[in-house]
Amino acid sequence: MKILLVGKNGQVGWELQRSLSTLGEVVAVDFFDKSPCGDLCNLDGIAQTVRTVKPDVVVNAAAHTAVDKAEEEIALSKLLNEQGVEVLARESARLGALIVHYSTDYVFDGSGNHFRTEDEKTAPLNVYGETKLAGEIAIRKNNPRHLILRTSWVYATRGQNFAKTMLRLATQKEILSIINDQFGAPTSAELLADCTAIAIREEKENQKVSGTYHLVASGVTSWFDYANYVFNIAKSLDTELTIKSVNGIPTSDYPTPAKRPLNSRLSNMKFQSTFGVTLPEWQNGVERVITEVLGK
Ligand SMILES: NC(=O)c1ccc[n+]([C@@H]2O[C@H](COP(=O)([O-])OP(=O)(O)OC[C@H]3O[C@@H](n4cnc5c(N)ncnc54)[C@H](OP(=O)(O)O)[C@@H]3O)[C@@H](O)[C@H]2O)c1
Repeated sequence: MKILLVGKNGQVGWELQRSLSTLGEVVAVDFFDKSPCGDLCNLDGIAQTVRTVKPDVVVNAAAHTAVDKAEEEIALSKLLNEQGVEVLARESARLGALIVHYSTDYVFDGSGNHFRTEDEKTAPLNVYGETKLAGEIAIRKNNPRHLILRTSWVYATRGQNFAKTMLRLATQKEILSIINDQFGAPTSAELLADCTAIAIREEKENQKVSGTYHLVASGVTSWFDYANYVFNIAKSLDTELTIKSVNGIPTSDYPTPAKRPLNSRLSNMKFQSTFGVTLPEWQNGVERVITEVLGK
């Protein structure tokens, strides 16, 4: 099997370089690569890459993920999250190849407090969510052979994420205020990458599994409880922290350019039953990554 991986150096892309290598030959590119072109904003260049590499599977881990910046960088967000994705979908379809793509809980409006299933109504609250949804639609329209994997609250040893930011702040500040009314499941890039490889292997045997899935760790937490969990792990590993007090605050006390969903709970039952995997509780991966980041 030959796999083209776009966005090889992001949180998920980095882990995919490892997990996909068990499936066959991986041609991995990032936006600075010229030949083959890995810049998803270069629509002709990225089309040419698919034509030249001729992969059996295209995995797209590249995206405009800066949620607040996207409110101003609308054109760039569209180019990366929709137009570039559309090109990948069209070109992979021409080859009869599978396309694997990541999407987000932000395609929903976050109302209620239930775990959303894949078929529920989408209604993004911000530009990032709108452009990610447009990317999903472009894939469904252009390549029936697809796996769209919606995830949430991604973290990894490599890259920028909430867990690592909290760890840093806990060694610099004495008091922190953290949102306690947004709920979701922190999901590790490692878990996403491993499950992606499992799903690709299954799709090769049975193309009927093509479709949209919620791929998140099990359980639920708030940013406030997640941060405290990170602090407690760090303390248990004898890390010296400056933090003395952590206050829970509502979203309304922390205005940001992009509006965020309050309920990011995604049901992962369809992924578990289709691919025969158990998605672990979110705490499992967080503990691993914090331990690794601290070098313990
Ligand atoms: N992070 C989350 O919490 C989260 C939540 C839900 C869904 N997702 C989705 O999961 C997927 C992976 O996210 P992630 O957390 O791994 O994001 P990430 O760490 O921000 O990785 C995205 C990668 O895309 C690269 N990129 C930017 N512009 C590009 C271009 N023009 N051409 C090619 N690559 C380009 C980025 O490079 P630079 O870093 O150099 O800009 C980065 O390496 C994305 O589809 C994202 O929407 C993420």
